[in-house]
Amino acid sequence: MKEQSFYVKSYGCQMNVYDSEKISSFLTKEGMVENNDIYSADIVIFNTCNIREKAAQKVYSDIGRVVKKNNDKVIAVVGCVAQAENSEMFNRSSDIDIVLGPQSYHLLPKMIEDVKPNYKQLNTDFIINEKFDYLSEERKIKGISSFVTIQEGCDKFCAFCVVPFTRGPEYSRSINDIKLEVLQLTKQGAREIVLLGQNVNAYNSEMNENNSKLSDLIYELSEIIDLKRIRYTTSHPINMTDDLIKSHKDNDKLMPFLHLPVQSGSNNILKKMNRKYSVEFYKEVILKLKEAKPNIQISSDFIIGFPEETNKDFEETLKLIDEIEFTQSYSFIYSERPGTKAASINDELSNSEKTERLKILQSRLQEIQFNFNETFNNKFVKVLIENKSTSNSEYFFGRTPYMQAVYIKSKKLEPGSEVDVQINSCNHKSLYANF
Ligand code: SAH
Ligand code: SF4
Ligand code: F3S
Repeated sequence: MKEQSFYVKSYGCQMNVYDSEKISSFLTKEGMVENNDIYSADIVIFNTCNIREKAAQKVYSDIGRVVKKNNDKVIAVVGCVAQAENSEMFNRSSDIDIVLGPQSYHLLPKMIEDVKPNYKQLNTDFIINEKFDYLSEERKIKGISSFVTIQEGCDKFCAFCVVPFTRGPEYSRSINDIKLEVLQLTKQGAREIVLLGQNVNAYNSEMNENNSKLSDLIYELSEIIDLKRIRYTTSHPINMTDDLIKSHKDNDKLMPFLHLPVQSGSNNILKKMNRKYSVEFYKEVILKLKEAKPNIQISSDFIIGFPEETNKDFEETLKLIDEIEFTQSYSFIYSERPGTKAASINDELSNSEKTERLKILQSRLQEIQFNFNETFNNKFVKVLIENKSTSNSEYFFGRTPYMQAVYIKSKKLEPGSEVDVQINSCNHKSLYANF
């Protein structure tokens, strides 16, 4: 019999990208082959994101597009929309054969095998630690920089957010498992590891013998000689403990860049969001980080138009942006999510007002980002070379310690090497150099 081929499409955060890579290696081990063409694949797996309404809706139109060309295939929906919408997904699209939540991907091969016409497969159980036990197979690296999930889930319940419902309670992997995985990756050529978790700095392996914290894990990993750079994301401000801040000072492999989402610069809104910190607390954390590592750069997420956000609240967010000078950011208009606390607050702000605020905020953030990039003109900066640019083969792509994308015109660079390059131009998104 011909081998079954599969295609995995990922939406949402890096943790989904990581899970998709795991699903691919797992299915390959089960004898299936990865197909780079979504239309001819026998099985299409949509690894979905439920964070905003638009992201959640997208999967339905994508399924429609795929089955229109060829409806003789198995459609599996996995990830956060699968967890949240559950069996309701079958009612919304009769093309879906499998709905599987993020904790049980090891069940996928059996579910695929069991799919027959009108015999739908559903599993949205929370059996948290099993996931890592089953999906621990060696994974082929996709690049020089590799993601490793070290923590899943969230206990914080911010008023706007679905993650605690789709990913369940916080769970941390053991240091030994993580170390083994990182060693497998560096053996294949990975030189940067990005440690992932919905609350990565809440990492504490209470479930393992040595009760280690994220700072301990970072020190352990930094002993791997072939590993050049370590990053972690996404952190919550209340879990930025002193030991973790100190590791930014003491550990040269830990990059001077931190994604620390603040969401809003107004205490009034932070309270309604149930973020558990004040603007003053956030600024204090940044101050400590800058004391520990003076060149550290901070990036953030912002939610605009949270219910009852006044113009004054918004102005306070702009003020914070000017004070911190975030050098990267993601900003979104608030999206009401079913089942969350904020969904019950009356949202009276008009769409046009929200769009206007977002525009103002983004242009300010872009300006700051551009100004920061401009300070690199004519200067040398250490870049980790990742690959040849996909859009122009004369260029290599890499990143600075501060996560800036760099395009370098060169014939002699090696992916995986760290080189000092002199920047000759920039825009708000990228730096450019010759080598
Ligand atoms: N754990 C991280 C965030 C994970 S979700 C933290 O606490 O910061 C990623 C980002 O999506 C959030 O930082 C937030 O800015 C955005 N987001 C989450 N829910 C949203 C919603 N309902 N509407 C708009 N943006 C949302
Ligand atoms: Fe969502 Fe808040 Fe948890 Fe982040 S900390 S995943 S925003 S509930
Ligand atoms: Fe989206 Fe789930 Fe990640 S909702 S952002 S894919 S944790």
